[in-house]
This record gives sequence, C-alpha cells and structure tokens, in this order.
Amino acid sequence: MPGGTTENVAARGLACEDMLRNLRERGWASLPLDRVTHAAYMRLVGHGHRFFDQPDEHKRELDITLSEGHRGWVSPDQAGDYDDEGPRRYEAFDIGRNAEPDDKVEHALRGHNQWPAGRDGERLRADAEAMFAYLGELSAGIGDAICADLGVDAASMRRLRTEPVSQLRLIRYFEVADAPIEYRDRAAMGAHTDYEFFTILFQDAPGTQVLDDDGTWIDVPHEGVVTVLVGDMLSVFSGGRYQSVLHRAGSTVKAGRMSIPFFAGADYSALVTNAVESDGESICFGTHLLTQLRRDFPYLREADDDFVIDLTSGARTSEFESRAWSRAIGRTRAAAPRAALAPHLVE
Ligand SMILES: [Fe+2]
Repeated sequence: MPGGTTENVAARGLACEDMLRNLRERGWASLPLDRVTHAAYMRLVGHGHRFFDQPDEHKRELDITLSEGHRGWVSPDQAGDYDDEGPRRYEAFDIGRNAEPDDKVEHALRGHNQWPAGRDGERLRADAEAMFAYLGELSAGIGDAICADLGVDAASMRRLRTEPVSQLRLIRYFEVADAPIEYRDRAAMGAHTDYEFFTILFQDAPGTQVLDDDGTWIDVPHEGVVTVLVGDMLSVFSGGRYQSVLHRAGSTVKAGRMSIPFFAGADYSALVTNAVESDGESICFGTHLLTQLRRDFPYLREADDDFVIDLTSGARTSEFESRAWSRAIGRTRAAAPRAALAPHLVE
C-alpha cells in the first residue's frame, strides 16, 4: 500500500486508494504503522499496565463518574447496556480534548484531563498528550483523503471539526472468575457502531471483530497496523457511501490485552449533513454522542432523569446499528444465524 502508512497520510495528506476502497466497501481498513508510532503506542501500553495494576482505591481518585467532562478511570461498574455482552471484562482510562478558554460551546463533555500523580503519571500524560495530538493530525489527513474520494471540498469536514469532541481510550481486559456458563460465548464488548466520524484503533493482541458480508464475525488484523473503522457521522456526511461498521470484542479476548482507540469526533454542536448531495437529513453530533454514551455509562443515565432506555422498542440500538444489523441479515442467505447475529432483534 504505497503512501499508506500513518506517517505519510498525516504528513502529506496522501489519499491511500486501498484504505479508501476498504473503508467504502467494508467499513474498515488496516493502515500500516510506522516504527516510531508503533513504539509510541507500546509506551502507552506500558503506562496503561502500570496505571491499571494499581489498587482500585488509587484509581478511584480519578474515577470518571467524579470528573469534569467525562474523563479518567472507567471502572468495571460502568457496564453498558448490551445484551450480547457478558459480565464486564475490561476497565479503561479515558482522555479527551482539553477545553480551551476561547472554545465556543459549553457542553457536558467539555473539561480537562485528569492524570495520576507521580513520575508514572507524568510519563503517561506526556505520551498520551503527544499521541492525542498526533492522532488529531492523522485524522485530519484521513478526513481530507475521504473528502477527496467523495469529491467534496476538504473544508466541508474540517469546519465540522474545529474543536472536536474526540477521545483516546486505554482499555485493558481481564479474566472474569466464575462467569456463569451462559456467558461463556458472550462478547467481551458488545456489538456497536462507533459514534464519531471514524476511529483509529491500536490493539496489542487480537480481539476486535467486525461483522463481515456473510454475517460472520471476523478478527481484524492487529500486528503492525492500526484499524480505521467508519463511524456514524461519516455515514451521514457521505450520504451512505461509507457505512459505520458493526464491531465488538469477541468472547476469546485474552486477559491483559490492551486496545487503544482514538475516536475522531466532530464539534459538539456540529450539524452533520450529507456533503455529497443534500438530502435534508442532519444530525447534531453532540446529541448523538451523549445519547449513545448514556447507553454505555450508567452514571450518565442516572444524572439525567429524563433519559429512559425503552427496552421494549430496542431503543438502546441506534438507527445506525439497526441499519448495519439489517444489512448483515439481508446479505446472509441462511435464516438460522439471525438469532446468533442479532439476539436483541429476535423476540
Ligand atoms: Fe467501538
């Protein structure tokens, strides 16, 4: 894939034909990692292990539920509402864009990152902030390449991303002792589409699976690459030429696995529309993101008395996810796998 490494997509804004075709046709693509970026990710993996290895009472000082703007330690208590997911098997550390004094919009996800104390905390902060800035640049380059592919001006995406609500997560999986037998085949992270423009995902071991054309879950490659996953905002922006992809962490994820997604978001108040040909559809990114985060975080649900998940109508599945499930089921010839594909769509 000439011109397709993280280094030169970011530095030179090169359109990578393979990457764009795969994003269009499958909703995901591998992007080879250059040596320097791989080393930077592995330093973050090391910092992540040192942070997660601490006793819970230390991590709880940085608990996301006590934070300004939704960042910090995500304990296993913050289990999302996914009926294909077994007992919560991971913890996370969430890092966002730091609010600037001249930011135009106040919102629930605006705030400043919190970091552990001491030398380890300083090292985590330095490497995480550098990675956040780098991935911001890389995502701008990928966004420009996607705009070129769609035949629209790069500014049409960039103006939606002037102070984007993006997030970098460190996620570590662990064993669940005595998991009930009915949970053995459940996903380690339930199936979903990502809510932003796209995601750049690093994994230090296999685990992320996407729903393939034939309705089977397949592992995406992890060695020497990051995976770019199409998110919901790109589905809208491209008028469906790119489709957000259903993915999950499979049931066989090993304890100690670390995954590091970067969610390339839009401005909180951005109204995302079809940039290729106007179709009258628009979606406010902040509203969509917060709705989905309430599904994922009990503390956000509890903070909003008006938010009710209607379990009878399947409201916990977004319209993007419903469409992705429908496409997968439509492409699957045998009727039998439907329950396996989409247990929450089967009565
Ligand atoms: Fe995801």
